[in-house]
Amino acid sequence: MKPVRHYLQFSDLSREEYSYLFERSKTLKRRRNEGERYQPLLGQVMSMVFEKNSTRTRVSFEAGMAQLGGHAIFLDAQTSQIGRGEPVEDTARVLSRMSDIIMVRTFEQAMLERLAANSRVPVINGLTNEYHPCQILADIFTYIEQRGSIKGKTVAWIGDGNNMSRTWLQAAKILGFKLKVATPVGYELTVLDRQHYDTSVFEASHSAKNAISQADLVTTDVFTSMGFEAEKEQRLAAFRDYQVTPELMQQAKPDALFMHCLPAHRGEEVAASVIDGPQSVVWDEAENRLHVQKALIEFLLLGQQPS
Ligand code: CP
Ligand code: NVA
Repeated sequence: MKPVRHYLQFSDLSREEYSYLFERSKTLKRRRNEGERYQPLLGQVMSMVFEKNSTRTRVSFEAGMAQLGGHAIFLDAQTSQIGRGEPVEDTARVLSRMSDIIMVRTFEQAMLERLAANSRVPVINGLTNEYHPCQILADIFTYIEQRGSIKGKTVAWIGDGNNMSRTWLQAAKILGFKLKVATPVGYELTVLDRQHYDTSVFEASHSAKNAISQADLVTTDVFTSMGFEAEKEQRLAAFRDYQVTPELMQQAKPDALFMHCLPAHRGEEVAASVIDGPQSVVWDEAENRLHVQKALIEFLLLGQQPS
């Protein structure tokens, strides 16, 4: 039996596999836009477990499975046995006997890893407190679509040292770009497993202006991630000087792109004129979740496809 491949963090795939996935995403996007029906997953099922809210992740996975000819089942903590304390190992054993692939959005990465360890089928991370690899996959695909290879480029992260910025740092090592992160004091990016990070491509500071200087891509995220709501007021105060404004954007390269994984809070982490302005590619970025995840699902279930 072939070993099961999971996608639990960005470092689970190699540079070569990412090259394949970006090409494949482009092909699948073009074929869908041309109206072609491509249904290699007829009769296959994805179980989607959501312990946190979602709009994009849910719709992109559900739509993606439908477009590939399969089906997706939505489970949340409130209406399944997950919220009533069934062990995650038991949930994994049962779901993986009834479905072909599992997607999970949860709190601790350790929980996702326990689920994957007990699953017979591939498990995809749809966001944990620590990582959000599907989003970074979409973000880098979006950059490539707009500007070509990200290798050697500079990405500026302004804001929280959170699941998104930690995933960017893993991607920097694998794909060879520089990451400059500016966080408030006390919200720095913590590196969890040093082997997955190349700290020589990583510049951390508390200065948004320094981080954004000469950046090719500027990105940010909410000040308060899901699961940290109790810290909201304190965070609003601490992050006051970390809004991506038009003035700040002027420090980046003139053709720099702006990205945000969404949902966004205009007037908090980003000014409306930036996110709704000409450098912003947030709608393509959101749409691309669909295309990259279809390529990812196909890769995990069927392996690489001829182009
Ligand atoms: N960017 C993202 O993951 O969005 P949702 O929380 O809406 O899924
Ligand atoms: N960092 C955010 C991303 C939301 C898509 C969160 O975890 O809530």
